[in-house]
Amino acid sequence: MSAGASALEAAVERVLWDEAAIRRRVRELGAQISRDYQDLLGDALVENPPLAVGIFRGAIVFLADLMRAMPIPLECDYVQLYSYGKGSEAGEIQLLRDLGTPAQGRHILLVEDIVDTGQTLHFLCEHLEARGAASLKICALIDKKPRRRAKIPLDYVGFVLEEDAFVVGYGLDYAERYRNLPYVAVLKPEAIAS
Ligand code: IMP
Repeated sequence: MSAGASALEAAVERVLWDEAAIRRRVRELGAQISRDYQDLLGDALVENPPLAVGIFRGAIVFLADLMRAMPIPLECDYVQLYSYGKGSEAGEIQLLRDLGTPAQGRHILLVEDIVDTGQTLHFLCEHLEARGAASLKICALIDKKPRRRAKIPLDYVGFVLEEDAFVVGYGLDYAERYRNLPYVAVLKPEAIAS
């Protein structure tokens, strides 16, 4: 292993979901979501394909894989949010980048990396509903349950995290690092600055 790779992985305490587990689950989710949109929209799927909206940056990897697991007409876009919290602390939310596509009349699939308190999705659902989305579904890679404050209906969940752990990898960061790990892992406590 190169010095760079070992420096990246040295901060990892344990892997929660490895590459194979993620690949398998993303394929299952893609197939399920595609079937559900086919049932919901029928032939209208061709005229008005669902719009997969990634919440960047965390969902960047998940969105790319999920889209390729959905064999139906599909468009994609992204929004980017800024949370006034540093590192592992959540805070106030601001929209840095809105959709490039009008939401009016669209069937939107929000693609999120991890749901923690639920504030981010609460904010975005209100935002998109106010812009006249025809339907709104949520797909989260990880449902981290312990700190949930906003009641958010998650239509599709990749994995459930029952412990209040801060996880990284597969797009998820700690202070902008570790997004490029191909698995989801818990960091060593000493890698998380207090
Ligand atoms: P929420 O608004 O509290 O649900 O937080 C959601 C956002 O916080 C996610 O989109 C992530 O960007 C970030 N987040 C929450 N928990 C974690 C974690 O364990 N690792 C990395 N990012 C996290």
